[in-house]
Amino acid sequence: MNTGLIHKYNVPGPRYTSYPTVPYWDESNFNVNDWKFSAVKSFAESNEKEGISLYIHLPFCESLCTFCGCNKRITKNHDVEDPYIKAVLKEWQMYTDLLQERPLIKEIHFGGGTPTFFSPNNLRQLLDGVFNHADQCDDWEFSFEGHPNNTTREHLQTLYDFGFKRVSFGVQDYDPVIQKAIHRIQPFENVERATTLAKEIGYTSVSHDLVFGLPKQTLETIADTIQKTILLKPDRLAFYSYAHVPWLKGNGQRGFDENDLPKDEEKRALYNLGKKLFLENGYVEIGMDHFALKSDSLYSSAVDKKLHRNFMGYTSSKTQLMIGLGVSAISDSWYAFAQNVKTLEEYYDALAKDELPVFRGHLLDGEDLVIRKHVLNIMCQLRTSWAQPNEKFEGLDEVITKLAEFVKDDILTVNESGLQINESGIPFIRNVCMAFDLRMNRKLPDTRLFSMTI
Ligand SMILES: C[S@@+](CC[C@H](N)C(=O)[O-])C[C@H]1O[C@@H](n2cnc3c(N)ncnc32)[C@H](O)[C@@H]1O
Ligand code: SF4
Repeated sequence: MNTGLIHKYNVPGPRYTSYPTVPYWDESNFNVNDWKFSAVKSFAESNEKEGISLYIHLPFCESLCTFCGCNKRITKNHDVEDPYIKAVLKEWQMYTDLLQERPLIKEIHFGGGTPTFFSPNNLRQLLDGVFNHADQCDDWEFSFEGHPNNTTREHLQTLYDFGFKRVSFGVQDYDPVIQKAIHRIQPFENVERATTLAKEIGYTSVSHDLVFGLPKQTLETIADTIQKTILLKPDRLAFYSYAHVPWLKGNGQRGFDENDLPKDEEKRALYNLGKKLFLENGYVEIGMDHFALKSDSLYSSAVDKKLHRNFMGYTSSKTQLMIGLGVSAISDSWYAFAQNVKTLEEYYDALAKDELPVFRGHLLDGEDLVIRKHVLNIMCQLRTSWAQPNEKFEGLDEVITKLAEFVKDDILTVNESGLQINESGIPFIRNVCMAFDLRMNRKLPDTRLFSMTI
């Protein structure tokens, strides 16, 4: 790969799991009543037709992985489980009271933190509580994130009995030196055990999360990690670029030195080697940082142009309304985003006062809605079009002018009605989205809020 291009385009930038991205939400124009109104409107428009999605954030982990950028609370005290589940169910009840009709649930995703920190029995209580107030769509898709070190047969079976068929396991890297640097000791046997159990029980999509750009990673270590991964043949792979964001409050990114991190072209070489090995072993690259076997629904949804991207990354389906429950969870009504408070203390406080624990959000205006579509098209389909009047926005001409530079660098091809990302341009799709990001380009405050794009 052209190293000049990597230097040119490796700048801080959003991962575009939403548009507008969180730092550019207009919080001055948002209040919780507006959020409630938009959730009710979206529910009325879509519940019967397609159902709704639920994201439930389960924040506890027993041990801190020092590379981790997720919202988590480290504790070994499992007494925290019960009050947390009660709080989440209270929040859910506040939503179902607001929506008035019983929701039809199409998707549930348990994210974290570590959902498998919770006992199978507590997860059962949580799901029983959810379904006390809701019904299930015929074509449901339920998934969860499991830590290979603590996911038991009972966890997998309990969730499978509720209809969960998809699990993603955090693997990150198998090298012992890297595992020590990121404080995550996790032998291959643990991942093998969890993966085999999930397949035996009947999970149809087992995914592994790997990260490139971790401290002390080299071409040799990544090749070894990928060879081990291929032995277990997960249906999907997330191959995340390590996001180094140590300035974020509450983040645990310490325990290694900046000098331990592979930089720019070194980091990109790790991705390229990983990609080569995945492609040689039957995986297809999906979007920006995902791979899937052709038998997996992520692949078919990409082929059918149904791939979607949300706060959890790429997904094979979408609903108009997604309600996020739990600390830091983000909800999306398509017309608005709302994020919950980030600490347990604030979360419990708000619910004790019978208030939705939302602390910020954004109401999308007409321009946001059009640009959101373009960003989704670029991230999911590697193309977008502005042929139709409802695909145009003020400022489009300026954006098209900016695209000339990408054309020169062989990142994309443009014609009068749209753009298509070239194969060699895939590593730069975040940069292309940045050209469309009028909210960011108008304000450009502190781009150090973001990790690097490459
Ligand atoms: C909530 S964790 C997965 C479940 C469980 N906590 C575990 O670690 O096994 C979600 C995933 O986010 C990814 N992740 C976390 N911090 C990251 C960072 N700084 N950069 C890139 N990926 C990161 C990891 O691959 C991790 O598996
Ligand atoms: S990677 Fe997973 S287990 Fe480790 S701290 Fe982050 S959320 Fe917790």
